[in-house]
Amino acid sequence: MADHWIENHKRDSWRRQAKASGYRARSAFKLLQIQEKFKLVREGDVVLDVGCHPGGWAQVAVELVGDEGTVIGVDLESCQPVEGALLLVGDITDESTQKRILDELNGRVINTIVSDISPDITGNWDVDQAVAMTLVADVLDFSLDLLGYGGSFTTKIFQGVGIEEIIEAIKPYFSEVRRFSPMASRNSSSEVYLVCRNHMPWKRGTTVVRKTYEELLDKKLNPESTEVETKVYSSFKIRKKKSAN
Ligand SMILES: C[S@@+](CC[C@H](N)C(=O)[O-])C[C@H]1O[C@@H](n2cnc3c(N)ncnc32)[C@H](O)[C@@H]1O
Repeated sequence: MADHWIENHKRDSWRRQAKASGYRARSAFKLLQIQEKFKLVREGDVVLDVGCHPGGWAQVAVELVGDEGTVIGVDLESCQPVEGALLLVGDITDESTQKRILDELNGRVINTIVSDISPDITGNWDVDQAVAMTLVADVLDFSLDLLGYGGSFTTKIFQGVGIEEIIEAIKPYFSEVRRFSPMASRNSSSEVYLVCRNHMPWKRGTTVVRKTYEELLDKKLNPESTEVETKVYSSFKIRKKKSAN
């Protein structure tokens, strides 16, 4: 009970600070703290903000990229405008939304992708975790091909089943993949941020993070199966296993 009170108090404190500083959401402090540690966003960058509603991260991103930069946000829900950002409404996994992002980019590469995406919670922990992880993989599969050399990708993930596998699936495309828990998210939630730096586009032919992730997870959850096949999806080999009949 006491712990719960302290957590709520911390959350309220970030909320109060967000209000006082003009940010729409306390989540703005998470991006600020990630930025402070990793220096991901630079002036003039093109930033894609995935799951941008209500716009806290977009506000921070606009400040960081400055007048020469570009911030494109996307969310299922519409946001109040953020000056200096283009905030689209749509499902990031939907082809029509992806096309709108491509149209807006008009051939430019993205320097920084930040994703705070959270699917709707059903209350069934296993289902929620599976949906959240798959969504992260889908966001990667769409956006990695747009990320320039040396760029970064930061995403919220939730501690639990599949976390090691999603990290393994992402690793070949970046020289550094780290977990980070900003002060502003150290509450009761299991969220953690995966900060992937220095994108190495030449490491892959086709981006297939979701497929790699699902095969790694399958291998973990079905250790009894027999190894039958190997496939190269990127710079490393995935050993595919088939259950023994
Ligand atoms: C925690 S909020 C983001 C907060 C935001 N970073 C801010 O600072 O204001 C997570 C958002 O992810 C969005 N989301 C969930 N699934 C999505 C999807 N498939 N496509 C786009 N946005 C999605 C939700 O609508 C929600 O607004």
